[in-house]
Amino acid sequence: MPTYPGALASRLPDVGTTIFAVMSRLAAEHGALNLSQGFPDFSAPPALCELVARHMRAGANQYAPMAGAAPLREAIAAKAEAVHGARYDPEHEVTVTAGGTQAIFTAITALVHPGDEVIILEPAYDSYAPAVELAGGRVVRLQLEPPGWRPPWPAVRAAIGPRTRLIVVNSPHNPTGSTWEAADLEALAGAVRGTDVAIVSDEVYEHIVYDGRRHLSLSGHPGLAARSFVVGSFGKTFHVTGWKVGYVLAPRELTAELRKVHQFVVFTVNTPIQLALAEWLADPGTWRDLPAFYQEKRDRFRAGLAATRLRPLPCAGTYFQLVSYDGLSDEPDRALAERLTRELGVASIPVSAFYREPPTGPAHRLLRFCFAKGADTLEQACARLARL
Ligand SMILES: Cc1ncc(COP(=O)(O)O)c(C=O)c1O
Repeated sequence: MPTYPGALASRLPDVGTTIFAVMSRLAAEHGALNLSQGFPDFSAPPALCELVARHMRAGANQYAPMAGAAPLREAIAAKAEAVHGARYDPEHEVTVTAGGTQAIFTAITALVHPGDEVIILEPAYDSYAPAVELAGGRVVRLQLEPPGWRPPWPAVRAAIGPRTRLIVVNSPHNPTGSTWEAADLEALAGAVRGTDVAIVSDEVYEHIVYDGRRHLSLSGHPGLAARSFVVGSFGKTFHVTGWKVGYVLAPRELTAELRKVHQFVVFTVNTPIQLALAEWLADPGTWRDLPAFYQEKRDRFRAGLAATRLRPLPCAGTYFQLVSYDGLSDEPDRALAERLTRELGVASIPVSAFYREPPTGPAHRLLRFCFAKGADTLEQACARLARL
């Protein structure tokens, strides 16, 4: 095997393999039920797969336009208007990306200059900070506080200064399952008013909210929409995380900068899936039925957890359930997650993985389980966890 002969100065010296890959591998090694990584264990809709195949057979196999296939951009804009009353021009304000992660990376890279500051609210999805650091920016970390996980608005206002370029926000929130309320949007709007600060709004779980809630997209708030990249992911919405197709809604000026980078990151996204998604989106049932679909799983999982000594925290959205093990063990969360995988055969994610410097103490003895799984898997997982 070839060996690199020189010295390497890593651009991301503190980054190793993500916890998601680590726990999925451990789950596979021990034949454990994998409730760690955030992906469904059930099939994609067969009719959607058939649409992709049809477009491939019909010859849609060459590059799509750089910003995305026009029918898909139009369908995305129509959905944003139908759901949030948001008006985006498909030509200049909608861009199709290779999933939410690429969208976020590209938006951050497009805006952040060396020395700029970017505010991130932890616990946070793990791709935000490395994207900032690769752009030469400085991450300013603030913490959401359990049990409500509301953004610390006074601290956000205090953290905004002349170097602040971006704030990254995420609702419905991974890993906590919390969702923003109207007051949060107003607080953010107030915090950035009169500044040049832009926003990356990670809304990949936009269609997964429970108990009659409505997802409050930044795209539906005129003041915030004017300065936001709003990120969506079809992987999360249509049970096709492996397809890696998502999108960004942003005003024309932000979209122009985004596309300058996008064209050199992926240039464009695969054609047949874009065309299939455009047709699929024509039926609003494809996303409107999602809350009921996942709420049934959430409730099944929470009912099963009631027979264990783990204590589920509230879950308003996403397909993640946090559980507290306070009072059961004072092990670090990573040690417990690994032990549960090895000894009980159930894999989860330690919440400390979503922090650079994880807070400690009883309120932070937390594991995250993904309940985007079949009923049998969820029931078996709870039966195993009941042995704890
Ligand atoms: C909060 C959050 N943002 C973005 C992503 C990435 O989405 P995609 O798979 O479309 O890249 C995920 C995936 O787990 C996520 O949880």
